[in-house]
Amino acid sequence: MIIGCPKEIKTHEYRVGLTPSNVLAYVAKGHAVYIESNAGEGVGFMDADYKAAGATITDKKTLFEKSEMIIKVKEPIAEEYSCFRDNTILYTYLHLAADKSLTEMLLNKKIRSIAYETISENGQLPCLAPMSAIAGRLSIQEGAKYIEKTYGGMGILLGGVPGTPKANVVIIGGGVVGINAAQIAIGMGADVTMLDRKSERLAYIDQIFNMRIKTLQSNRGTIESLLPVADVIIGAVLVPGAKAPKLITKSDLSLMKKGSVLVDVAIDQGGCFETSKATTHSDPIYIVDGVVHYCVANMPGAVARTSTLALTDSTLTYGLQIAELGVEEACRKNNAILEGLNTYNGHCTYKGVADALDIDYTPASKAL
Ligand SMILES: NC(=O)c1ccc[n+]([C@@H]2O[C@H](COP(=O)([O-])OP(=O)(O)OC[C@H]3O[C@@H](n4cnc5c(N)ncnc54)[C@H](O)[C@@H]3O)[C@@H](O)[C@H]2O)c1
Repeated sequence: MIIGCPKEIKTHEYRVGLTPSNVLAYVAKGHAVYIESNAGEGVGFMDADYKAAGATITDKKTLFEKSEMIIKVKEPIAEEYSCFRDNTILYTYLHLAADKSLTEMLLNKKIRSIAYETISENGQLPCLAPMSAIAGRLSIQEGAKYIEKTYGGMGILLGGVPGTPKANVVIIGGGVVGINAAQIAIGMGADVTMLDRKSERLAYIDQIFNMRIKTLQSNRGTIESLLPVADVIIGAVLVPGAKAPKLITKSDLSLMKKGSVLVDVAIDQGGCFETSKATTHSDPIYIVDGVVHYCVANMPGAVARTSTLALTDSTLTYGLQIAELGVEEACRKNNAILEGLNTYNGHCTYKGVADALDIDYTPASKAL
């Protein structure tokens, strides 16, 4: 198969879909790989490294014209839509439930798209997990920074010092983001409370943190009771493939302390706070009713080298299978890839996306 990896163009997105060692793996299996010039420069992978691994370095136009499968990191943005040829395979993060115009483009062009975030194996999301781990760890770093006075925060240190209170960090969602956030928050000395809808998840969290954090059932009453005491709230919920539920409303902000911080990690699924709107690394925060909001949709981009290595480590296995077998056969042979199929031949094949966007749904097995 002919594979193309373009340079990401989203603001401050330096990650790249393939590393030189990934290229070696594809080339070793007989595939041809095109890399857009300077695609990996931002994370220290130079054109010469890709060339040495067997890739052809080219411009964006040629890459899209020649490639049968495009491997990216972020969902295509509007400027990239026209690059896509009909029927191309697209293997990347998509987050379609929050992006109707992208979904329409993929359906109109009959793109066969496999979304990293919905590939599912044994109930786990192997291509989302590494980025979630990074975003979770970063979320506390960012919360700690933006609660500083300079940024409009209340001016407190998460762990305090002897004789002063510690910050109250509330994490809503005890999945991969939540657990990684909790690890760092504990490490920084904060008081941590974790909420989840599932009691078995709370039991697991209680065990792995050895009762070092408070666990609470996530419901309206619990959230309301925590709003006046929280210093930093991390939104880390996920309903796979669907839009995030709004758990904190605009009127709730009046219950919160001035200068407290909301970090909405779930912003890539539309955000779990009503007042969240996606921000970028160059302008990451804004303030509503005295509450600082941090809503960067591509948080791992801030630590692009770590992120590229962690992401490509998990996407390579499935990518090689798709290249080897083609989308159809790869989906038939590996249910994890079938779960990843979001659009196929003009059909939306992921129920959560179809429901969120109110469009027709065709089960992947039927569309194939
Ligand atoms: N902004 C970024 O850069 C970035 C990076 C990575 C992941 N994410 C996003 O972070 C979110 C979390 O990802 P994850 O990998 O931790 O998912 P996950 O599936 O591992 O965990 C999600 C958790 O949320 C819980 N949950 C669902 N609804 C809830 C509710 N109403 N209240 C409390 N808990 C609820 C689930 O039970 C689950 O334990 C996702 O939206 C993901 O797309 C964002």
